[in-house]
Amino acid sequence: MLASQRSLFDIPSDIVYLNCAYMSPLMKPALEAGVAGLARKSRAWELTADAFFTGSEAFRSTAARLLDCSPDCVAIVPSASYGVATAARNLPVRKGKAILVLAEQFPSNYYSWQRLAAEQGADLKVVPWPENSDWTAAVLDGLTEEVAIAALPHVHWTSGGRLDLVRIGQECRKQGTRLVLDLTQSLGALPFSVREVQPDFAVAASYKWLMGPYTIGLLYVAPQWQNGIPLEENWIQRANARNFSNLILYTPEYEGGARRFDMGERSNFALVPAADRAMQQILEWSVAEISETCGALTRQLATAAGECGFSSPPEKLRAPHYLCLRRKSGIPPDLTHLLARRRIFVSVRGNSARVTPHVYNSAEDVERLITCLRLITAT
Ligand SMILES: Cc1ncc(COP(=O)(O)O)c(C=O)c1O
Repeated sequence: MLASQRSLFDIPSDIVYLNCAYMSPLMKPALEAGVAGLARKSRAWELTADAFFTGSEAFRSTAARLLDCSPDCVAIVPSASYGVATAARNLPVRKGKAILVLAEQFPSNYYSWQRLAAEQGADLKVVPWPENSDWTAAVLDGLTEEVAIAALPHVHWTSGGRLDLVRIGQECRKQGTRLVLDLTQSLGALPFSVREVQPDFAVAASYKWLMGPYTIGLLYVAPQWQNGIPLEENWIQRANARNFSNLILYTPEYEGGARRFDMGERSNFALVPAADRAMQQILEWSVAEISETCGALTRQLATAAGECGFSSPPEKLRAPHYLCLRRKSGIPPDLTHLLARRRIFVSVRGNSARVTPHVYNSAEDVERLITCLRLITAT
């Protein structure tokens, strides 16, 4: 378990921020790295050609450590939807086949598949919400032989349910189903390994559990797809990019590995170093420790909230960092406002109150939320 890391963040003492699944606060070292990166442009004459490559490669290496893969397999993308669209552009599916998604899946991992299925005459197959909270069993049930692509998260964003991706990955490989993952609500807070799961593509936006800025993310591309077609064609993905004076000697060759899938202007001098610095801090804390630390806080809350009539998935079926509370009578519609008035921040998503702590939170923060929940539900 980690001791409170609040001093690394600029969070006023009266704020109880339990909303990392919405947007993590930027830690001070990442902010400094971002500001320093932005300031580099005030001295444009010092931005050498090399600067377009060094920051991006550093980001790729750090991201690869979090994913447990080679840096060559990482592309730099602006959003989860961009990564999902890249996967949809490259994975084959045909009439009579299906693409599997979860009920209430996040839109960025839904619309591209809906379009692809419609274009190809394939079906979009939706795994129904499991009343027993067991998303893994529900997915394994749905993985029938016509499923060509399974597009899934590690953590279901409105229930907090955790999918056993190692098992699902095995099953996908057994029947030739391609696995695409949206790790935006998990990478950085829930242990994950590309080597163990073996997805075809996996994307994560940086601004939640990777604790980076908005509009940057990472995309894992398995080696067998690295000769694919990127969403954009830009100069820096090409093999001759390092020689600025010869860029008009157009070449069909791309840079190696997943780099061809990088977004345009991927060298972003402010966002890339900030996101990289945040990921380095996560690695220093260790994802396992973050998970355990958040898990102790959500356990404390789940127990007390249960006494006020809220239910949550059983601990072994949910992600430790992600607690979704439901109530038979529904979530009070003004819950987030009532809490915000008391300087406590959570989200309501679907039919759940979503409470997502991080290492800047403490047992006292959770106690403050519990006290308010008792008051609100008593009235
Ligand atoms: C599961 C999930 N995926 C992705 C995103 C963000 O998607 P995008 O980067 O396409 O805006 C969110 C944001 O809430 C999310 O909850």
